[in-house]
Amino acid sequence: MMSYQEMHQCSISQPAEFWGALAEELHWYRKWDTVLDDSNAPFFRWFVGGETNICYNAVDRHALGPKRGQAALIWESPEADQSRTLTFHELYREVNRLAATLKALGVQKGDRVIIYMPMVPEAIFSMLACARIGAIHSVVFGGFSISSLANRINDAEPTMILTADAGLRKGLPVPLKEIVDESLELATVDTVKHVLVLERGIVKNTMKEGRDLDWQTQVNEHGKPYVEPERMLSTDPLYILYTSGTTGKPKGVVRDTGGYMVALHASMGHIYDVGDGDVYWSTSDIGWVVGHSYIVYAPLLKGVPTIVFEGRPDHPDPGVWWRVIEKYGVTCMFTAPTALRALRKFPEHWMQQSDLSSLKRVFSAGEPLDGPTYDWATAMLGLPVIDHYWQTESGWSMIANSVGIEDLPIKSGSPTFAAMGHHLEVVDIDGNPVPRGEKGLLVDYPPLPPGMLLTLWNDDDRYLKSYWTHFKDKQLYLTGDYAIHDADGYFWLLGRADEVMNVSGHRLGTREIEEVVSSHPAIAEASVIGVRDELRGEAVLVVSVLKAHIVPAEQDKIANEIRQLVRERIGAIATPHGVHFVSTLPKTRSGKIMRRVIRAVYQGDNIGDLSTIEDDATVDMVREAVEIMKGEF
Ligand code: PRX
Repeated sequence: MMSYQEMHQCSISQPAEFWGALAEELHWYRKWDTVLDDSNAPFFRWFVGGETNICYNAVDRHALGPKRGQAALIWESPEADQSRTLTFHELYREVNRLAATLKALGVQKGDRVIIYMPMVPEAIFSMLACARIGAIHSVVFGGFSISSLANRINDAEPTMILTADAGLRKGLPVPLKEIVDESLELATVDTVKHVLVLERGIVKNTMKEGRDLDWQTQVNEHGKPYVEPERMLSTDPLYILYTSGTTGKPKGVVRDTGGYMVALHASMGHIYDVGDGDVYWSTSDIGWVVGHSYIVYAPLLKGVPTIVFEGRPDHPDPGVWWRVIEKYGVTCMFTAPTALRALRKFPEHWMQQSDLSSLKRVFSAGEPLDGPTYDWATAMLGLPVIDHYWQTESGWSMIANSVGIEDLPIKSGSPTFAAMGHHLEVVDIDGNPVPRGEKGLLVDYPPLPPGMLLTLWNDDDRYLKSYWTHFKDKQLYLTGDYAIHDADGYFWLLGRADEVMNVSGHRLGTREIEEVVSSHPAIAEASVIGVRDELRGEAVLVVSVLKAHIVPAEQDKIANEIRQLVRERIGAIATPHGVHFVSTLPKTRSGKIMRRVIRAVYQGDNIGDLSTIEDDATVDMVREAVEIMKGEF
């Protein structure tokens, strides 16, 4: 048995040998010519020349072997009061039938398909069916609304959208099909030939003749028991997943096929210590990267059952999660600090009512795991919660306690050490390592391990600018996070260095929300910032300047309209916690709004260096205005 240090060293000094051996554990139609092609850095390519299909590896490989009759997908929906378990064979059958249907409806290899679905088994069939036929899926989180979906349609130019009549949030319908209709009205591209609608019987749909098709009717008509999986190049895109960046336009993270598959499969052993006999539950949503990797692909690649949960941790009551663990004997759970914080508010009997003795490991990611939450969960579960850090871009962990390799001592608040293949460092603004224990920017030295993004969809330039060109003469991958590397080698995350927010573990861009707020006719100028929030990690705060003719009596009404507008356009998760009006906003000499200053004033932190601000009076005015508003809470 190798220690973590030995194995990590091997993964970065001999990446081709390290990852090449792990790739042998999966099925390839044609073996690769080169494990790692770094000739066009920083566009790294893994298993070049190799041909595979991730759906074959995640589904067929098990359905055609001894795991045929074993549970693959367990759907539990407190929202719909339903549950369903599919074996690998049943999953295989459903995926084949849908793949045949998509093909019959004209979807071809390389086409983009947007999946805008609730957490139902059909959503997972959709992802796998796309992967099977080589279509590039782009899942859009069902909590996002019209503008977010329209932006993604414009960028991905899908030929098909898969949706349902509605999702459910605390028993209330979220009319997904209607949002698709409005998004298609708003979108500027006209590439969508069909919208396939899963009828759940929640709301009534209006179907557009010729474009909109009923899911069940189509699958009944076109479904076939077997569709030959497309032989995909390892480097072919598997999916596009949009995430927030520093501009109003979301970034389309493009994932490859082979590298991602190998990295996810390896991570199940290395990081999660999961294998035969385990039951895996990631409480995320397929609209996020955690859902892509750890609800769908990784557990299925590993051949372990995955739980697909449609609901919330506190609905219909705060015991619901713990009952799921008992019902299915979950052994490995992956959740987010925000959910644990929400559950901590409730009496302990909700947790104690269920038998949680099947749990072997609990993981957390998406935002810092704060001390009180770690202590509470660890005591309640009788297990340490293992923090790990990653990003949409990385597809899997960058920093983790790789317990499947070596269970390292936990330091509460630190996600521990670099994951396999990641050579991380904390650097200053010139890209030079800072002394251990000092704050700096977290970077990854090339080459990037498999699974990391290929590029941004249709925008190699933005890929370079966003991640690779920050340091003169040094090509380092910039994570966008501040961190400390301590004397023992542990990493500590200190929040984003850019204007990306993290609300309840969800990544939101300030610019996207600002654009919506600014579209309100009463708003002259708007700034959106993430401010500290005990429950959500960060909360969305709007600080804006009203047009000159607006009288103070109208402010409350406008604030409500802005909240409503953001809900409608982006989604409930982006709803502003506070909307404040000021007479002026602090700006740099070049006119850039200083969100950092607004945040510091609002939070009562040290404002720092203001030398680039036009005029001190601006800051004083904001400080004064925000002070008054704080009193209004
Ligand atoms: O700021 C970091 C924070 O979430 C960002 C990535 O968010 P997203 O792209 O949505 O991917 C989430 C995948 C788990 C990071 O840049 N973040 C993520 N995990 C942690 C974290 N911050 C602190 N501790 C973590 N464990």
